[in-house]
Amino acid sequence: MKLAPLLGTVALVGVIVQVIMGLEITGAGVDSFIMPHVIIGILGLVIIIVLAVTAFRAKTATIYSKLIITILTILILLQVGLGFQLLQGADAMITSHEANGFLILILTLAMGTVTMASARKRPQPNTS
Ligand code: HEM
Repeated sequence: MKLAPLLGTVALVGVIVQVIMGLEITGAGVDSFIMPHVIIGILGLVIIIVLAVTAFRAKTATIYSKLIITILTILILLQVGLGFQLLQGADAMITSHEANGFLILILTLAMGTVTMASARKRPQPNTS
């Protein structure tokens, strides 16, 4: 299964880009970043759902990876919801959106670490 690590890497890069773009939109007022920020956010939600389905089907997935990916899916759903509220002018939500963004970044890193650790621990054929 080579799709999961690829999607996981794309997700991590995407989250880093999202946080930088978000800070630029709010901090420097770069409004042209809003549309790409929205599109990457929604694509990110799709990627995380695919990864979650993959994790729940994989026999090698540990309870930790399943737990992290479930929390991550909920947080990203929340983030997209918060994002749309921001677009409608709910500026009071900016802090929650920012904090949730950093939480998503940390959990995406944790997801990679846990997945790699469990992949390494998986028994290899022909070794004793
Ligand atoms: C994983 C997905 C996302 C991450 C990590 C993320 C992260 C961020 C961050 C860190 C900021 C800066 C907030 C601040 O400086 O206090 C921001 C701003 C913003 N985000 Fe997102 N975001 C994501 C998805 C979305 C989506 C899906 C939407 C829209 C549907 C959205 C709409 C916005 C808007 C409109 C702002 C600017 C708020 C303002 O200055 O008025 N974000 N985002």
